[in-house]
Amino acid sequence: MSKLWGGRFQGATDPLMEQFNASIHFDKRLCAVDIQGSKAYAQALERSGLLTSDEAATMAKGLDAVLKEWETGTFELKLPADEDIHTANERRLSEIIGSAVAGKLHTGRSRNDQVATDMRLWLRGAIDELRALLVDYMAVASDRAEAEIDVILPGYTHLQRAQPIRWSHFLLSYVFAFQADLERLDALRHHVNQLPLGSGALAGNPFNVDREFLAQALGFDRVIPNSLYGVSDRDFVAEFLFVASTIMTHISRLAEDLIIYSSAEYGFVTLADAYSTGSSLMPQKKNPDSLELLRGKCGRVFGGMAGFMMTYKGLPSTYNKDLQEDKEPMFDACDTLHGSIRILTAVVATLKIHPQRMRAALTADMLATDLADYLVRKGVPFRATHHVAGEAVKLAEDRGCSMADLTLEDFKSLHTEFEADVVDVFNFEASVDRRTSVGGTARARVVDQIALVRAFVAKR
Ligand code: ARG
Repeated sequence: MSKLWGGRFQGATDPLMEQFNASIHFDKRLCAVDIQGSKAYAQALERSGLLTSDEAATMAKGLDAVLKEWETGTFELKLPADEDIHTANERRLSEIIGSAVAGKLHTGRSRNDQVATDMRLWLRGAIDELRALLVDYMAVASDRAEAEIDVILPGYTHLQRAQPIRWSHFLLSYVFAFQADLERLDALRHHVNQLPLGSGALAGNPFNVDREFLAQALGFDRVIPNSLYGVSDRDFVAEFLFVASTIMTHISRLAEDLIIYSSAEYGFVTLADAYSTGSSLMPQKKNPDSLELLRGKCGRVFGGMAGFMMTYKGLPSTYNKDLQEDKEPMFDACDTLHGSIRILTAVVATLKIHPQRMRAALTADMLATDLADYLVRKGVPFRATHHVAGEAVKLAEDRGCSMADLTLEDFKSLHTEFEADVVDVFNFEASVDRRTSVGGTARARVVDQIALVRAFVAKR
């Protein structure tokens, strides 16, 4: 079969080169958006007087027929001629409606503006799906946060027990990270949703196609105002890969927290059997494979981003075949995110928590800051109270007792402002509920956070 671009060639392509050059095995995922773009382009050609209305109608019907074949799995690839999705669709259109009309479709168009258009249309759809999945996660996690608002556990810095916090406060910390990711996706969508079609190969379209019309027909917000930029820009792919990496980072960090919390040493949470696996050797094992995969898959998305940036960075203007390498990392990041967000949502929805174990992990020394704050409320400067509370920690450590077991005399020996009500410091509920400033772990402030998330989710 002759090639679309075969006219000026005499020598045959090495079959090895044919394979190497082909992208059809991955870009066939663009089949539907490629047809969508072609249908709009055919209409634009008609408006420019390059197609009669009969020809345009024939072309639209033909394109629909090609799409139907993809949808029903009956599209037969002709290899090696169908080197990419654009070639394959045009070849098939030609077979269905005849080359006399089909041969006019590519007038003024290049695969360069075509592929850039397809990529943007496809990614726009994928972004919308990912946004919906993130919203689902936010709803599930905030429901959990509401139901378990009275559960208190150690909060950590440096993975050392730091201060008591509400379990809900912890859950919501990631919900807000995902909210920021959603906002990143919104911004990205705006960058993606611009029209390259009508840029031609690079210099522009010589048939005065109405690009505003094309933008409208394809649901783009605006026309890319420079044809060279239109065909060569893949910043939107790089930006997507960065946002994808950021989302995966959040997923990975949450997974790591839950892996730690599910170990016997912590015992704060138990993963549902549905998301765990066993060991082929050790009968007792129940491993958090879902969480480990979530953490692990972060690596491939990062890798895709780094790899694509490397491919992209040194390209001269404008289109270069290197750009064909934009697709696999984009598809792979989308697939990975899709699977990861859904698994994370299921894992968090079915997680069992152990409030008693969380509570048992709370120790009085985690209230040393509260002890210092007690003296602050009596007018002692914080730097001094920090030191006094440190001495109380040391005293309890030397005695081998809990700080809560020190006597009033012990406290008085450290500072004269201590009074009988110092015992009230050693209450974890009271400690969390003192954090009443906006964003704190006090019950009322966590309730506020849940309301914020609910309002955000409701608007989506
Ligand atoms: N398969 C190509 C890609 O993905 C389509 C564009 C080909 N353009 C060209 N001038 N060879 O980039």
